[in-house]
Amino acid sequence: MPRTPATIARNVEAMEISVIKAMAMRAAATPGAVSLAWGVPSFATPPPIRAAVAAALEADPTIGRYTLPDGLPELRRLAAGRHRLDTGIDVDPDSQLVVTAGNMQGMSVLLHVLLDPGDEVVVTDPGFASHVQQVRLCGAVPRYWKLDEAAGWTLDLAALEDLLTPRTRAVIIVSPSNPTGRIFDRDSLLGLARIARERGFVVIVDDPYSRFVYDGAACFNLASAAEFADHLVYLCTFSKAYAMSGWRLGYLVAPPALKGEILKVHDANLICAPHVSQAAGIAALAMDPQPWPEFARLLEARRALICERLDRVPQVFAYQRPQGAYYVFPRIVAAHTDSRSFAIELLERVGVSVTPGSGFGPAGEGHVRMAYCVEEDTINQAFDRIEAHYGRET
Ligand SMILES: Cc1ncc(COP(=O)(O)O)c(C=O)c1O
Repeated sequence: MPRTPATIARNVEAMEISVIKAMAMRAAATPGAVSLAWGVPSFATPPPIRAAVAAALEADPTIGRYTLPDGLPELRRLAAGRHRLDTGIDVDPDSQLVVTAGNMQGMSVLLHVLLDPGDEVVVTDPGFASHVQQVRLCGAVPRYWKLDEAAGWTLDLAALEDLLTPRTRAVIIVSPSNPTGRIFDRDSLLGLARIARERGFVVIVDDPYSRFVYDGAACFNLASAAEFADHLVYLCTFSKAYAMSGWRLGYLVAPPALKGEILKVHDANLICAPHVSQAAGIAALAMDPQPWPEFARLLEARRALICERLDRVPQVFAYQRPQGAYYVFPRIVAAHTDSRSFAIELLERVGVSVTPGSGFGPAGEGHVRMAYCVEEDTINQAFDRIEAHYGRET
């Protein structure tokens, strides 16, 4: 079919591919580029998970078939157990849990359940770019909740009040945050949940990173506050904690009243998460010892390295030390016009790919995001090039 504007939906035509993937694709097409653009951990899926899947492929004749839309009962049971360990809360795997093809797909389904055209969703600014796109794809309106950079990219509840309208349906939270690495504090999160309960909207907790926190920091999980369970949906993914980003697997925990609505959309959208990935999820949750302490240790060493390297180029970047996840979000100190042209120049002239901060919301302008989940060699190569180009100050 010829690609004429008449054949393309207006809200799709108006959108661009996320800036993270745009930079990753640009880097892939640039010979010799070193990429800190995309947050894909360098780790391989742990061997026990791969071995369990290989065995299941051999032994289970049903592995190539659909599962029921909410996923394999065994996986939902194990996920409920994991949720109890993470939050102290008991959830019913049958009435509250849905296996998803990762948090992006879970979020997409949920937003379609919650939103009519013209409804509003509050997202942090800066925040994860794809959330904004998903809200817009529902015909709804993202409202940017500016984080307080001077206070370390923290939540400002007073500023939230000004954003809420009768059309507010949800607030999306990611902690530790992508792109800042900030862990949001318990009191702010509980304050947000209280407002959600009073005003009748949902807090959506998108959680890829809570296993990756550093310096012994605690990361409060809002899903552990039982009194707000009716106003909260918790999305948990295997992508990062188990190095399973390519398997496309996650689960969501929702109030029982929502599960039936979620299943309608999930079924219409996907039928079910891939069966083979669900088998991988069962192996992951049954695995002992759990994989993330090792990943978190490696990521903490990479965080130390990238901070050390950033310290040597204060004439280029000023940064706040991330508390969790695996991103650092420095302000650009070097002369530049905007973060997008800075990032493109850094790629084309220096051979280093980062993500322009403007892709994470208006407050991200003037910053770039660097993902330090890559090998130490990659971090060193990137900063050797940056130092060679801009000079080393200390
Ligand atoms: C905040 C956030 N949500 C969701 C995702 C994607 O998760 P999944 O692979 O489970 O779809 C990412 C990946 O970078 C992310 O940073």
